[in-house]
Amino acid sequence: MSEKPVRFGLVGFGAWGGHHANAITVTKDAELVAIAAHSPASVERAKEAYPDATVYADYRELIARDDLDIVDVVVPSYLHHEVAMAVLTGGKHLLLEKPMGISLDQCDEMIQTAKQHDRLLAVGHELRLSSMWGKAKQMIEEGFIGKPQYALVELSRNPYRMGADGWRYDIDRVGSWVLEEPIHFFDLARWYLESSGQPERIYATANSRQLERPELQDNFSAIMHFSGGSYAVVSQTLAAFEHHQTAKITGTKGALWASWSGAMDRTRHPTFQLRAFDGNEVTTVPIEKPTGELFELEDQIARMVDAVRSGTPLHCTGEDGRWSVAMCLAAEESIRTGETVSVSN
Ligand SMILES: NC(=O)c1ccc[n+]([C@@H]2O[C@H](COP(=O)([O-])OP(=O)(O)OC[C@H]3O[C@@H](n4cnc5c(N)ncnc54)[C@H](OP(=O)(O)O)[C@@H]3O)[C@@H](O)[C@H]2O)c1
Repeated sequence: MSEKPVRFGLVGFGAWGGHHANAITVTKDAELVAIAAHSPASVERAKEAYPDATVYADYRELIARDDLDIVDVVVPSYLHHEVAMAVLTGGKHLLLEKPMGISLDQCDEMIQTAKQHDRLLAVGHELRLSSMWGKAKQMIEEGFIGKPQYALVELSRNPYRMGADGWRYDIDRVGSWVLEEPIHFFDLARWYLESSGQPERIYATANSRQLERPELQDNFSAIMHFSGGSYAVVSQTLAAFEHHQTAKITGTKGALWASWSGAMDRTRHPTFQLRAFDGNEVTTVPIEKPTGELFELEDQIARMVDAVRSGTPLHCTGEDGRWSVAMCLAAEESIRTGETVSVSN
């Protein structure tokens, strides 16, 4: 007899929430049972797109159902904590989009509550599931570049979307623009330099081209120093065009250069390449399946299904999500003060 599908509720049906809904419906053994949208227009859109799901205008009604295994939360960042706490205290497993929270207190409370209620808490840092960024990690672990010493993770892209009701351009609701996208790159850089211990200190700088809103910083760069002597540079500009991301990792023996380009982040037709230097020759590493956030989103849903059914480890835990928020907040402090900030604790 085949096992019953894992039943998902989705909170948030905006630009990214719509992709989550699709990812759930195309994933084997996952079922999209209910959606909580917000405005009447979003409620109508959700009903039309997913007639088999029950659509609510209040996420609390969705969480009150007793037939959901997981609630997937894809709302503006300032609402993550409120909705996540309701999910966990309501006894459901949680997949929460990044940033996990906009303060460390929020992250701590979610981690604590997940433990108390014995629920899974996964955070949407999906780059870890990529066939290409993941292949680079695998090669580093296999010793291809020797001891890793340096990582550059860099993105050049078009400006952020406004988001529903303009939340992404309101510092109180977005938290910061470091929490919006560079947060992924801190996670990636730490993953690549894992063998070099923990980050000890960070220096960051940023500027804005928005005269009336200087707190929204288009250009951002940070240097993160690890206890083992390696360091990572995370850099992003939102004042460019299309979506072009690079990771360059060098070690005592060789180097990797991974790059991904698309007309925008959410494309199913990107170009990407991983080139590798073993100290002697440069080769292009075959990547077995397409990579990009739409593909990794589907892998993320599949991982949640496996975690609920078989206890497979989460791709990114609450502790991982908290770590990335902490790094963003330390970077923001460095931008504000002009000083290097200690992150060893
Ligand atoms: N991991 C990634 O790569 C990735 C990529 C993109 C976004 N994200 C994250 O995903 C989250 C959502 O981003 P987005 O781009 O989808 O933003 P968005 O387009 O603005 O969508 C947010 C949605 O949340 C809805 N909403 C607001 N309050 C709600 C509530 N109380 N209950 C239910 N729904 C509510 C809004 O509904 P109305 O429109 O009806 O008001 C809107 O549809 C953000 O935290 C963002 O950082 C992650």
